[in-house]
Amino acid sequence: MSWEVVPPLGGCVSPPTTSDILEPVVSRETPAAATPATAPTPPPPPPDPAVVAHQRMVRTLGLTDEEPLPAPDHTRLVAVANQKGGVGKTTTAVNLAAALALLGQKVLVIDMDPQGNASTALDLPHEPGTTGVYEVLVGGKSLLDAVLPVPGLPGLWGVPASVDLAGAEIELVSQVARENRLRKAVQEYLTEHEREHGERLDFVVIDCPPSLGLLTLNAMVAVHEVLIPLQTEYYALEGLGHLLGTVGLIQEHLNPELQITGILLTMYDGRTKLAPQVADEVRTHFPERVLATPIPRTVRVSEAPSYGQTVLQYDPSSPGARAYLQAAREFAAGTTRPAAEAAPQGEPVVTDDPTATASDAPADIPTSDPINISDNYSPPPLSTGDPQGEQAVDGAPGA
Ligand SMILES: Nc1ncnc2c1ncn2[C@@H]1O[C@H](COP(=O)(O)OP(=O)(O)OP(=O)(O)O)[C@@H](O)[C@H]1O
Ligand SMILES: [Mg+2]
Repeated sequence: MSWEVVPPLGGCVSPPTTSDILEPVVSRETPAAATPATAPTPPPPPPDPAVVAHQRMVRTLGLTDEEPLPAPDHTRLVAVANQKGGVGKTTTAVNLAAALALLGQKVLVIDMDPQGNASTALDLPHEPGTTGVYEVLVGGKSLLDAVLPVPGLPGLWGVPASVDLAGAEIELVSQVARENRLRKAVQEYLTEHEREHGERLDFVVIDCPPSLGLLTLNAMVAVHEVLIPLQTEYYALEGLGHLLGTVGLIQEHLNPELQITGILLTMYDGRTKLAPQVADEVRTHFPERVLATPIPRTVRVSEAPSYGQTVLQYDPSSPGARAYLQAAREFAAGTTRPAAEAAPQGEPVVTDDPTATASDAPADIPTSDPINISDNYSPPPLSTGDPQGEQAVDGAPGA
């Protein structure tokens, strides 16, 4: 049943009378008695679990009232690289990218590792034959064909890698402009994305494999920035000089714009003496580039990929999630702060409470000159005193 005011035909429209308003318009075909007085309201559709999970994540991370980060004035292209294996490259690439997306940035992750770990963590299909980085580098496909939205994380897209990509290291050797393949594909994609969506991407984050072969070379030629995840253990320092030398060579011969814009301390265990010593050593040599927020070693971070999730989705209340969010803010702002403020001597960061340093980080100290990447760094011996480094930390409370 509906209520309708019918203006008189012809002439001017007079204001409706009360009886006009109250007169129900009833179809002659439908007897009034057959129409129920009030139609039952259909039950609301069940909430979309993905939306509910996203809202929960945003609430738990305390982002509900937070302004989105201002977009950078150009698309920042970042390779997460370290030739050392298992130092947290993939974990950093996916969690940093997820955190940036949660902070309002438009982010693309490119998985350049045939292990496909970033694809797993972002829940992207990457079985052999899936269109991914291999098809772009070797098969001449466009990145447009390979980009997929990351489930559960609006603003985040990914390009998967399958084991097929392992062949690219060899197949590319004989190809023309072999180290420029990714750069060309990314540049074409950025132009196309902007034309299609009317806005540009804010970040492209590339997860590199643990080698300095053609795949990593392609990544470093495609970007302007390198972010180095550094596991806070002694061997990490040994590989650093080699990595800096490689970045220097690429800068000299292939990509003059390349800069190391961040060193992120990963798997930081503040209960050992070694971790703060390694952190101090790195901060002493590269004071302008070490992010103030270390990523604590926690079980939650390592569990998340087995659910096809970043730690921000898997457990947004965990110290690892909060640390990656804070590191993302820092990296986006392009700021670091002196080591002394970040982790004061004698007060090492507690593994399960990184917020002790993370939340205090001022975000207004501008970075200065880039690292002198031709620096031939070699680590000194570190004295750890009591051998406390053998505690099992993965069962740390709150982890
Ligand atoms: N903060 C952390 N706390 C606990 N475990 C972590 C943390 N960061 C990474 N891990 C775990 O350490 C292992 C290596 O991490 P990851 O795969 O990110 O390193 P990687 O440098 O990408 O390795 P690869 O060189 O093989 O590509 C993984 O099992 C990961 O879950
Ligand atoms: Mg990896």
